[in-house]
Amino acid sequence: MGSDTTASVNSTSIADASSETIRYRIADRAQCAAVDLLDQTRLPESLTRCVCETLPQLHDAIRRLVVRGAPAIGIAAAYGVTLTPIESSDSLETARTKWIDAIEYLATSRPTAVNLFWALDRMRAIVESPESVSPELESMEATAKGASSVESLRVSLVAEAIRIHEDDRAMCRSIGRHGSGRLAECRNVLTHCNAGGLATSTFGTALAPIYYLHEHGKTLHVYADETRPLLQGARLTAWELAQAGVPVTVITDSMAGGLMRQGHVDAIIVGADRIAANGDAANKIGTYPLAVLAHYHRIPFYVAAPTNTFDLALASGDLIPIEQRDGEEVRCPGGPSGRTMVPENVDVINPAFDVTPAELITAIITERGVIESPNVDKIAAHCGSPIAN
Ligand code: MRU
Repeated sequence: MGSDTTASVNSTSIADASSETIRYRIADRAQCAAVDLLDQTRLPESLTRCVCETLPQLHDAIRRLVVRGAPAIGIAAAYGVTLTPIESSDSLETARTKWIDAIEYLATSRPTAVNLFWALDRMRAIVESPESVSPELESMEATAKGASSVESLRVSLVAEAIRIHEDDRAMCRSIGRHGSGRLAECRNVLTHCNAGGLATSTFGTALAPIYYLHEHGKTLHVYADETRPLLQGARLTAWELAQAGVPVTVITDSMAGGLMRQGHVDAIIVGADRIAANGDAANKIGTYPLAVLAHYHRIPFYVAAPTNTFDLALASGDLIPIEQRDGEEVRCPGGPSGRTMVPENVDVINPAFDVTPAELITAIITERGVIESPNVDKIAAHCGSPIAN
């Protein structure tokens, strides 16, 4: 797949740069494309865009968490497929092989969030049905009479990636509306990691009901767990809530139990990276202990996720693959230029996710509604058959 993983960076001041999570650029009648990402590794200090023009650059951006959060990874990867270098001399068969290779390559970027594989499967379905040409892009010159099947298919792939992006916006809005009823009576809500607009197209999943209520005149106060080791809560959730004018207080992960005991937390809401058929939900490491604490303190514990986060092929959460990340993230929390916090000869582990059993989840909120006390039958009925992961 080539070795150049250096994407171009464009650093601008917070005031004038776009904070859109993912943008797609097309030039030269879709011959030349780029996936333009807000570099989340640089927040909150700077708004830096990371422009990926090649598959290795995009793969590297997903792996390094330049773009992260289950839905956002899926959207970025879908656009990424369109970066596949196709030559004008390529036959349809050759081009299809290149696109399938690209899909398989991007699927190796991160293992846990099923949205990545769901989005890539949608792209694969387009590659495998070369007749389908998107009505949205029919007007583009590339699809005009006489254009080759390869051109046609390439345009269909762009259209599908755009559709995945737009569908996510609608799903997040809907999750916000469905979840708002659950939080309407709360004053203080706790969340973990970042499941907001930075983790999706916009609006988020766990943060969607909070934004929805804020837009409708009811503003909650949010406790954001800092979320060790990469601090998505402190760096990202706090940043985006503050931008939106939602009051937020960052706490270290170890403070959550004490706050619950003192009655300062009315509800907990988190996102998910993959939910098994029985309702067990994988999310950022540190989610499971929060659910245990919520159960002990009789605080509702909500998981908010689009239905494409369900993996109905997995009977339970024990089967969800958990990403093991580099121990350096634990040893040296400030990144390569920071201080090392662990003696050199001491081992560390760095699982990026844990699994919360369904029995600890009060309800799962999706774009279709709310699954109360989730179990295998309710999930099957809620999801129906169209969700194939
Ligand atoms: O490692 P990350 O930052 O990609 O982990 C993200 C999470 O765990 C989110 O809570 C999850 O993906 C849901 S995002 C709407």
